[in-house]
Amino acid sequence: MTTTVTEIADGIYRLSTFVPEVAPPAGFTFNQFLVMGDEPLLFHTGPRRMFPLVREAVSRVIAPGDLRWIGYGHFEADECGALNEWLAEAPRAQAAHGGTACMVSLNDVADRAPRQLQDGEAIDLGRGKRVRYLDTPHTPHGWDAGLMYEESTGTLLCGDLFTQLGHDVALTEGDIVGPAIAAEDMFQYSCLNPTMGATIRRLADVSPRVLALMHGPAFAGDGAAALRALAADYDRRAATRPALAAAA
Ligand SMILES: [Fe+2]
Ligand SMILES: [Fe+2]
Repeated sequence: MTTTVTEIADGIYRLSTFVPEVAPPAGFTFNQFLVMGDEPLLFHTGPRRMFPLVREAVSRVIAPGDLRWIGYGHFEADECGALNEWLAEAPRAQAAHGGTACMVSLNDVADRAPRQLQDGEAIDLGRGKRVRYLDTPHTPHGWDAGLMYEESTGTLLCGDLFTQLGHDVALTEGDIVGPAIAAEDMFQYSCLNPTMGATIRRLADVSPRVLALMHGPAFAGDGAAALRALAADYDRRAATRPALAAAA
């Protein structure tokens, strides 16, 4: 396995590892995003066993020991499995996440106390970069789910949203909604809930210019339109589940 490093927006690097053994024959990508600044932030650590690869990829951009912040979508191995490896590697590093994530996992699991963020609170990384935390409970899955939005580049670090199979380019202007619907049909990875469409439409309200997918290419273009199309598909799915439709 090799990890490629591509700058997908000014000062935001996508570290991507393609694993052909996951979901063959198409395979699957695992991406992390390094946001530059006086206080660099890594969104997703990658799985614990992938730490040597991700560390080497980070070292092509910054000294790994200089990492300051660690963000991720929700508590799963591919999102934050190497959290404590990073906390050991970088003495100033700290996880940053919402109240639920701190309460249900981070306060216990993280070897160093996390920074707890309110919904909508931003961290100033310096050098013009600011990442805003957005609560997305149960979307696409995990009570603790939340995402980050880098304001200067308009980049939504959108975690598992728009997950797709296969190996694509690092940055596309093509369709990401169709492949995401196909992957949802196959994996059924989302925690379908009556408010899921509304949660995704709230992300569209920030009008992102770049969507940084954890499993797929980054997308440059009308991020709000893509998010609203994805939300409509989840509305459709929820409407076909009678118990969910009644609750909406
Ligand atoms: Fe996930
Ligand atoms: Fe993931």
